[in-house]
Amino acid sequence: MRALVLSGGTGSRLRPITYTSAKQLVPIANKPILFYGLESIARCGIREVGVVVGDTAAEVMSSLGDGSSFGLNITYIPQDKPKGLAHAVLIAKTFLGDDDFVMYLGDNFILQGIEDFVEGFQRSAGNINAQILLAKVSDPERFGVAVLGDDGSVLRLVEKPKVPPSDLALVGVYIFDREIHRAVNAIKPSARDELEITDAIDWLIDDGLRVKSSIVEGYWKDLGEPEALLEGNRLALELLSGEILGDVSIDSSVQGRVNIEAGAKVIGSVIRGPVIVGANAKVINSFIGPYTSIGPNCVVENSEIDYSIILKDAVVKDVGRLEGSIVGKGATVLRRESKPSALRLIVGDNSRVELS
Ligand code: DAU
Repeated sequence: MRALVLSGGTGSRLRPITYTSAKQLVPIANKPILFYGLESIARCGIREVGVVVGDTAAEVMSSLGDGSSFGLNITYIPQDKPKGLAHAVLIAKTFLGDDDFVMYLGDNFILQGIEDFVEGFQRSAGNINAQILLAKVSDPERFGVAVLGDDGSVLRLVEKPKVPPSDLALVGVYIFDREIHRAVNAIKPSARDELEITDAIDWLIDDGLRVKSSIVEGYWKDLGEPEALLEGNRLALELLSGEILGDVSIDSSVQGRVNIEAGAKVIGSVIRGPVIVGANAKVINSFIGPYTSIGPNCVVENSEIDYSIILKDAVVKDVGRLEGSIVGKGATVLRRESKPSALRLIVGDNSRVELS
């Protein structure tokens, strides 16, 4: 089995954290979201991975390299424009050949990985032509939505319906056998001018081929909205191994599942997990509360931070208590004691500041 990972797209201006990054490389629990998918693919025993890249190709390629750090062999497949998920399959035909493959959308996060899903498909080898993964969501209109029959069979899929026929969203992981190539060649672009994978799967169903579904928990996808990014971070922190590689001073206390990465220093502070403190970060005289990621090289001093993401190289000093906050790469948040006692803000485009 091979894997096709979609990490293309326009690098469109998502707010506010992905201005300067490919959206698939936004870190949750200090790790780019795309890495979780690749690690899970490697755990499935898959070695050959095609990665579809678009405008942000340079950044994606420099983070993934040849794939060897994941135990994978990566072939990059350039896509000139994001012409749809089925278009990505179309241009990957030479790489995929007639092999079965798992297609993984690089901006999706699945807490428990995809191993069970892939094993399930392999167990029923030859009896299923496509397998989809579904999750119950509260906002199905933002997803592809599945309509299932009474016996659980997939009747049809609708892409981002205004009036969703169910609350079962298509998760961005699909497994196909070679029949999908006939389907992606047969379908026509949709109203939004994309070759939709939902149309290709509907084509398989109409052609009498077997499409199965299974349901997952712990699914997350969304990088645009801060609340959603914090929720993804919370889910990812559940996976922490609890490993202290950095230095924790004797007057500090570390409680619960906490990773402190190599070179990090925790001095006179309380860390209450799940929390990750990135490599070479410094936490001094501070409290770091549950569900917080402190990125590599950050400095947090005389502050309390709870349910937040502090991205790499940021400085947070003397701020009192921050919660539900996201501080971008290299940003500085500090208290100034000198007069006048006005707030002084240098806030990036589409940022949000809430003063209490
Ligand atoms: O995440 C699940 C959803 O993904 C499904 O529920 C939908 O049925 C499916 O169409 C897709 O919807 P999105 O609109 O969220 O897809 P998006 O355009 O964000 O693309 C998903 C990933 O695939 C993203 O990492 C970019 C990449 N991509 C996308 C397109 C359209 C490509 O590499 N090439 C493309 O042409």
